[in-house]
Amino acid sequence: MASQVWLITGTTSGFGAEFVKKLLARGDKVIATARNTSKIAHFKDAGASILKLDLFSEQAAFDRVTADAIAIHGHVDVVVNNAGYSHFGIIEDDSREDWVKQYQTHVFGPLGVARAFLPHFRARKAGTFVFIGSTAAWGGIPTLAAYCGSKSALRGAVETLGLETKPLGIRTLLVEPGFFRTELLNANNTVYVDTKIDDYKPLTESLFATFKGYNQKQPGDPAKGVQRIIDTVKGENDAAGKEFPASLALGSDAVEQLRNKCKETLKLLDEWEAVSSNTNYD
Ligand SMILES: NC(=O)c1ccc[n+]([C@@H]2O[C@H](COP(=O)([O-])OP(=O)(O)OC[C@H]3O[C@@H](n4cnc5c(N)ncnc54)[C@H](OP(=O)(O)O)[C@@H]3O)[C@@H](O)[C@H]2O)c1
Repeated sequence: MASQVWLITGTTSGFGAEFVKKLLARGDKVIATARNTSKIAHFKDAGASILKLDLFSEQAAFDRVTADAIAIHGHVDVVVNNAGYSHFGIIEDDSREDWVKQYQTHVFGPLGVARAFLPHFRARKAGTFVFIGSTAAWGGIPTLAAYCGSKSALRGAVETLGLETKPLGIRTLLVEPGFFRTELLNANNTVYVDTKIDDYKPLTESLFATFKGYNQKQPGDPAKGVQRIIDTVKGENDAAGKEFPASLALGSDAVEQLRNKCKETLKLLDEWEAVSSNTNYD
C-alpha cells in the first residue's frame, strides 16, 4: 500500500509510541502528538512531525491542531485517537470532576478531534478514524466505573460515527484491547482514590493491589497489538481480503472476554424473554 499520513494522539509511551515507531519504519508519514512535546522530541529526530495536542482542550484548539496537521503534508489519511488513562475509585468516593476528566479524555476529547477532521475527510471522500477503546466497555469492573463508563460511551458514539460517515467514504474502527504491557497501570499515570468509607476498604485494598501488581505483567505485547491495527487499516497480512470491520477486539484475553459476554447476554435474553417481551400494546 502507498505511504499514508497518520496523526496519533498520546505518543509518549505505550500504543501511541509503537504506532510512531512502526509507521516510520515502513515509510509512512507520522504526525506524533502529545500534551508535553518535550517528551516526544526524539520522534522528530526519527523523522516524525510533532504537534502539541492535549485532550483537555476546547473544540477551537482541536480545530487549530487539525489545520496545522493538514498543512504539514497537505492532507491526513488516518487519525488515531489513542490517548487515555485509568481512574480507580469507588463511585461513592469519586467526584463529578473525576468523571468529567475521564470523559473529557476518553469521549469528548477524541470526538472533538474527530469533529475537527471530519470536514477534511468529507472533502476528500476518504479518511480513516481509529479509536482505542477497551474491553472495559463490555462490563462493569469494581473501582473502574469512570473508566468503564467512558469507554462504553465511546463505543456507542464511535459506532454511530461509523454509520453516519461510511456513506461519505470515511472509515471508522473501534479497537478494544485486553491487557497490554504499556504504561497504563504505571502508578505515575494512574489515579487511585483511596476510599474514605470502611465498608469498601476490603474491595479497594484487594483490587488496587491486584492492578498495581499487574503493572508490567500484562500478557499483551503492544508492538504486536499495534501491528495488528496497522494490518487492519491497510488490509495487509491476516487482514488481507477482509471487509473493514467496525470494531476489533485486540488480544486473546479480549476475544475471550467479549465472547463470554455475548454468551452470557444470549443466555440472559433466553431466560428472561417471557418477562422482557410482552410489553407491546394489544
Ligand atoms: N494497555 C492496556 O492494557 C489497555 C487496554 C485497553 C485500552 N487501552 C487504551 O489504550 C490507550 C493508550 O494507552 P496505553 O495503554 O498505551 O497507556 P500509556 O502507555 O499510559 O499511554 C497513554 C498515553 O496517553 C497520553 N495522555 C493521557 N492523557 C492525555 C491528555 N489529556 N492529552 C493528551 N495525551 C494524554 C499519555 O501522555 P502523558 O505522557 O502526557 O501522560 C500517554 O502518551 C488508552 O486509551 C487506553 O485506555 C489500554
